[in-house]
Amino acid sequence: MMRNDAFEKYNTWGHSTALRLLYRQRCRREEPEMTCAAQAADIIADLARPGYSLLDVGCGSGYFYHSLQDRNIPVSYCGIDATPSLIEIGQQEMPKYGLPAENLKVMKLQDLNGSADLVLSMNFLTYLDNFHAPLERLLDIAKVGVILRESISDKACFAYVVDDHLDPGLTLSVHINTYRQTDITDLMTSRGFEVREFMDRRTKGQPEVFLEQPHYWKFLIATRAQSASREL
Ligand SMILES: C[S@@+](CC[C@H](N)C(=O)[O-])C[C@H]1O[C@@H](n2cnc3c(N)ncnc32)[C@H](O)[C@@H]1O
Repeated sequence: MMRNDAFEKYNTWGHSTALRLLYRQRCRREEPEMTCAAQAADIIADLARPGYSLLDVGCGSGYFYHSLQDRNIPVSYCGIDATPSLIEIGQQEMPKYGLPAENLKVMKLQDLNGSADLVLSMNFLTYLDNFHAPLERLLDIAKVGVILRESISDKACFAYVVDDHLDPGLTLSVHINTYRQTDITDLMTSRGFEVREFMDRRTKGQPEVFLEQPHYWKFLIATRAQSASREL
């Protein structure tokens, strides 16, 4: 018997009660703002123009909306995430803060088609099996720019490790990759983007270890070359 439900079966993000609680608390503002979210919002504040749309890919439960609201950044926010239970939390919690439930959608990046002025990928590509097709999709969608906060360094490192933060009795593995910066920037420039780099405010250039894997967090901002020159 063949079935097509393996994504949910193997998707680590859908199998942690602790993660669901944390994401609900972030939606309810019971957790402090993540430093990376604050930094992403500050970067977006510089790029945003009134009426811009922002798509948060791999948004979890959509709590990044709070970081935009707190800074009065004039963008309309939408988030997609492949894990239905995380989107459901956002749809339950975020309307109380002004984000319509329909702005959060269960969707895999692989199925995403459309456009947004700005696209955010925060702690997302790092946990996929590789970056090429996903990053190409983000760049295709972005009319103005892509904001990445991912594990990026001089050397690539690909790991696939058991996630020991899941509910008891589950043994599932997750990709934890560090991508080589020149590989990422080459793809961005080949698609007509100019790239800027920012040190991660939280980790200040030092590796952060999670599941025994070093993460080299960094921000890369890709803006379409013609939109950059239009600003001059
Ligand atoms: C580490 S979490 C990041 C959540 C949020 N961006 C943050 O920084 O707190 C990674 C998210 O990516 C989502 N995800 C994993 N694979 C995906 C895919 N193929 N398409 C869309 N979302 C995906 C997971 O469900 C999870 O919510």
